[in-house]
Amino acid sequence: MKQKAIYPGTFDPFTNGHLDVLERALNIFEQVIVVIAENCQKNVLFTVDERVAMIREVVGDYPAVSVEVLHGGLLADYARQAGAKAIVRGVRQVKDFEYEFQMSLLNRHLYPEVTTVFLMPNVKYTYVASSIIREVALLGGDVSKFVHPCVLEKLHLKRDEANTK
Ligand code: PNS
Repeated sequence: MKQKAIYPGTFDPFTNGHLDVLERALNIFEQVIVVIAENCQKNVLFTVDERVAMIREVVGDYPAVSVEVLHGGLLADYARQAGAKAIVRGVRQVKDFEYEFQMSLLNRHLYPEVTTVFLMPNVKYTYVASSIIREVALLGGDVSKFVHPCVLEKLHLKRDEANTK
């Protein structure tokens, strides 16, 4: 099977765990669109423009990857309009599954031709989540093993900004 998939998320910020899932998706799909959800009712650290710029830098070496934004609206509608029949989601632990299961069935209800594909990242990323990376980085902890250097640099800028307030 070689076709187009979307890989949606908040990506605040994009981590090496996300990159691992993306690389696995590229083994299956010809083209993957990373879709950054702008309005998903979460408190974010990075603006959508900052997230787009960071992810474009991280995936710069992958010609089969593009980075787009979901400016509100349903993911299922976005997938349909993009001609994507697959939604890729990373699942790290069993606790992720309940929400993912619900979301995948709802998306299938909204767009019956779409299939959600769950991919497990390398076990070394099992405990890596954007929320924990943000928290640790803003408190001065070392997260360099879990994010691309360009993301690390931006996290340090946010930390410095927070410390000068
Ligand atoms: O990785 P995240 O941050 O949990 O991403 C969740 C995301 C953005 C994929 C999800 O909230 C989403 O799909 N939002 C778009 C709005 C939508 O379609 N909601 C219904 C999904 S069933």
